[in-house]
Formats: sequence, structure tokens, C-alpha cells
Amino acid sequence: MKANAEDEIILSSLPIERGFAFHSMYLFQEFWCPSTLIEGVKIFHKQFQAKESDIFVASFPKSGTTWLKAITFAIVNRQSFSSIDNHPLLTSNPHQLIPFIEIMCRDDADWPSTEPRVFGTHTPLPSLPNSIMECNCKIIYICRNPFDIFVSAWIFFDNIKQESLTPLKIEEAFEMYCNGIIEFGPWWSHMVGYWKESLAKPDKVLFLKYEDLKDDANFQVKRIAEFLGFPFTQEEENNQVIESISKLCSFEEMKNLEVNKSGLLFPSVENKSFFRKGESRDWVNYFSPSMTEKLSQIMEEKFGESEMTT
Ligand code: A3P
Repeated sequence: MKANAEDEIILSSLPIERGFAFHSMYLFQEFWCPSTLIEGVKIFHKQFQAKESDIFVASFPKSGTTWLKAITFAIVNRQSFSSIDNHPLLTSNPHQLIPFIEIMCRDDADWPSTEPRVFGTHTPLPSLPNSIMECNCKIIYICRNPFDIFVSAWIFFDNIKQESLTPLKIEEAFEMYCNGIIEFGPWWSHMVGYWKESLAKPDKVLFLKYEDLKDDANFQVKRIAEFLGFPFTQEEENNQVIESISKLCSFEEMKNLEVNKSGLLFPSVENKSFFRKGESRDWVNYFSPSMTEKLSQIMEEKFGESEMTT
């Protein structure tokens, strides 16, 4: 897929800011899009044709995307890899098995030839192509406590940041985060967009929480499989297939795989950077009382009484 000349946006007319990891991000369709991805996002938005059987793993960065990709891949492909010994998740990072669609569009990558096609996306809901919104394909969205997202993002983006970009002090990064200035931010509108759609169209969008997956992965794996139309049979349940998927995709298992300890996803992005602590509430080790107060206030303003995040 290629962008049409008439679709070209004059980037210089868009607001621009430095990101956590990228020299420049453009405020494109009301979200901060890294300059290196804007071409892919535009092509995705304008040209992508969804199929009824497509599945999209959607998330704000650092919300548990890698985990949900692993679980989704394991659920959808379980007939082909019934033996755990030769499972692709043992030798490939989940982002290789379920690539980001913005990157595929940008790089004019080959599309999967088998169905269902499963893609990852960080694009906010209003910028998804009409074909996704109009057909019966499925979206699973993972949301995480914004306190934990901030810490995870600050550390991750510092690891993968573009060369010559100065590191952000935690206070500087926090100020940007509170203003919504972060790759694919603002984080609140990203979450609210998918949350509202999941309420309006519960058969189309499944809204998951990182913390719920931590609490009871087996229950959530079963729920995801049912939502995607790949429910477990009684025989599979008796054979502990749900438990083995949860175990295969658990933080401890994934982090200790050779591919995730040493491989590279992109030239400057190590697979290991996607597996840091894998815990809830690690933020308490980083936040000062004033940071806690400020972010709590923003969440109250943006989310109100909704139980969107934990
Ligand atoms: P921390 O930095 O808090 O450890 P994403 O996949 O969206 O980039 O999010 C990365 C976060 O999810 C990181 O959080 C990472 O450690 C955590 N993570 C990755 N794989 C996980 C898994 N299998 N189980 C739980 N958490 C996982």
C-alpha cells in the first residue's frame, strides 16, 4: 500500500513536540504520532481493508500489549500447535508473531495469507479505518493503571530512544505525561475511546485490564477465547489447555526464553526491553506525594466515576 499524493498532509502545519523516545511527534488527528510512524498511520487509516475475521490487539503503549499478543496468538493458533514443545512463542517474540499494523503499512509488508489475520495497533479508536468499524471484525483492548504505564513508559522509552536524544528526567517526563504528550497520547482519550466503544458494541470491542489478567489469567484467557469466537471445548478444559496457555504466556516464562533475553525486534529495540518487572503497583517506588496527587486529580477529571482503570 502506498499513500496517495493528495492524501499527503503538510506536516509542517501540525503541532510538533519531542516524544519520550522520538525526536518529533506530530499532533495528527488529535493524538501524538511519532514522525517515523505517521506515514504508516495515514496509510492504515485511509487504505486498510478489514476482513470480517480480522482480530486487532489494541492498546496504549506499555499497557500489556506483548502479553495480550502472546495470549491471543496462543488461543487462535492452538489447533496448529497443540504440543507446547514446538510452539512459536518459544522461539519468537510476540511482536514478531503479531506485528503492529502501522509498521506493516509503512513498510509495505506482506499481509498474512491465513485467517484470522491478527494485528497489533496503538492507533486511537477514532483514527481506525472505517472498514474496521463497519465490519464484524473484533478488537481486544488492554488498559492499565496510568501510574504504572508512566513508570513503564519512562524506563522503556529511555532504553529505546533515538540516538542523540537526551534522557528525560522523571520530573520532565511526568510533566509531558500529565499534558498528554507521549507517543500515541493523550493516554486518557485513548482509553476512553475504546472504553466507550466497548460499552456501545460489546460484541465488537472487549475491554480488558492488565490488573485483571494479573489477578486471574485463566479466567481472562477463557473470556478472550469466547469473545473471539474460539471457545474452549469441555475436553480442552479437562485437559488443562487454558492453564497451559496462561503458563506459556506468563511473565516468568516469557522473560526467561532465550529469544526474549537476547533477540532484537528492531535494530535499536531489544526483545528484553518488553519484559521488565511485569507487576502491578510498581509505581509506588517512583512517585513522590505531589506526583501522586497530580495524576490522581487528572484521572478523576478525565475518567470521573467510571471503573475504566483499577
Ligand atoms: P513493566 O515495565 O511495568 O514491567 P507493552 O507490552 O504494552 O509494551 O507493556 C510492557 C509492560 O508489560 C511491561 O511492564 C512488561 O514488563 C509487562 N509485561 C510484558 N509481558 C508480560 C507478561 N507476560 N505478563 C505480565 N506483564 C508483562
